[in-house]
Amino acid sequence: MAGTGAAGGGLGAVDDGVTALACSMPKAELHLHIEGALEPDLAFALARRNRISLPWADEAALTAAKDFQDLQSFLDLYYACAAVLRTPEDFRDLMLAYLRRAAADGVVHAEIFFDPQTHTERGVAYPVVLEGLREGMALGERELGVTSGLILCFLRHLTEAQGFLALDAALGSLDLIDGFGLDSGERGNPPGKFQRLFERCRALGKPVVAHAAEEGPPSYITEALDLLKVRRIDHGVRAVEDPAVLARLAREGIALTVCPLSNLRLRVFPHMAAHTLPGLLAAGVRATINSDDPAYFGGYLNDNIRAVQRAFDFPPRTWYQLARNSFEAAFAPEARRLQWIAALDAHFRAAGADPQGFPR
Ligand code: HPA
Ligand code: ZN
Repeated sequence: MAGTGAAGGGLGAVDDGVTALACSMPKAELHLHIEGALEPDLAFALARRNRISLPWADEAALTAAKDFQDLQSFLDLYYACAAVLRTPEDFRDLMLAYLRRAAADGVVHAEIFFDPQTHTERGVAYPVVLEGLREGMALGERELGVTSGLILCFLRHLTEAQGFLALDAALGSLDLIDGFGLDSGERGNPPGKFQRLFERCRALGKPVVAHAAEEGPPSYITEALDLLKVRRIDHGVRAVEDPAVLARLAREGIALTVCPLSNLRLRVFPHMAAHTLPGLLAAGVRATINSDDPAYFGGYLNDNIRAVQRAFDFPPRTWYQLARNSFEAAFAPEARRLQWIAALDAHFRAAGADPQGFPR
């Protein structure tokens, strides 16, 4: 296979064979907001089903509204669209639509965020949300063989007391939750605001994660690690601005769930060539690639892979590393992680690229 050497990066130098290999390889998606997988056609179908009127004339008008200036301008639209989700069937259909799309991109396991406060605040009870999502996940596993987990995210623009109320609602069915996370507007809402809430979540025996250094400073990563004791950082792309934070992430093997198209659409970087993913990898950080909110940011996992490959022309070993990182960082039993990695190895060997020969 051509392109197995050092990363090139020259315009037009992309090896289509490497892109095909990366798109077809088995992988885990670890940063996906289920509300962010609500495509315009499903949003309008659910609006009709629930007799809700959306503030856009049609799907094209909604799509045209997805011209974001920053994280907050995206969140305003994202929360407005979530209004169409009302019944367990709505959440089931949304989940199944995402899992079908993910399976087509080679995703074999997904750890999926949901924002219960977005729904309970507008009168949709927590069990309605959970029942629908879990039904979609069960159907996805049966129909597609994709396994999935659910990470309950607290909205950081709300108070810690409101977070505790959301946690209380989840306590009756804790076995259906695989972890806790922190999302929404980062500026002015540092991880430390939720220290006591996350202490409680950890005491319940669940892994915790947090969005940090997407728009906020690298110090938010340090806070998330020291005060919330997170196992992964979501985004974390601004870590490169602080060499001590970068070195710590590498030393401690903390995974970053990087979302390249999201970062472009929210103007964290002006263009893909300015993305910090190569710098994170070069520093030895366990980075993964994810789609974040695919219905809003222009694509699912393989769309992210294609955009990254066009900008950086990574060799096969980098794609192997990214997929391997996704499995190593998954909240799954060791035996399952080893099975996934064995399947990944086999996929590369079948394509003529032996992972044993990749430099470590
Ligand atoms: N950042 C913060 N909150 C979010 C995001 C994101 O990228 N997507 C959905 N909620
Ligand atoms: Zn996110």
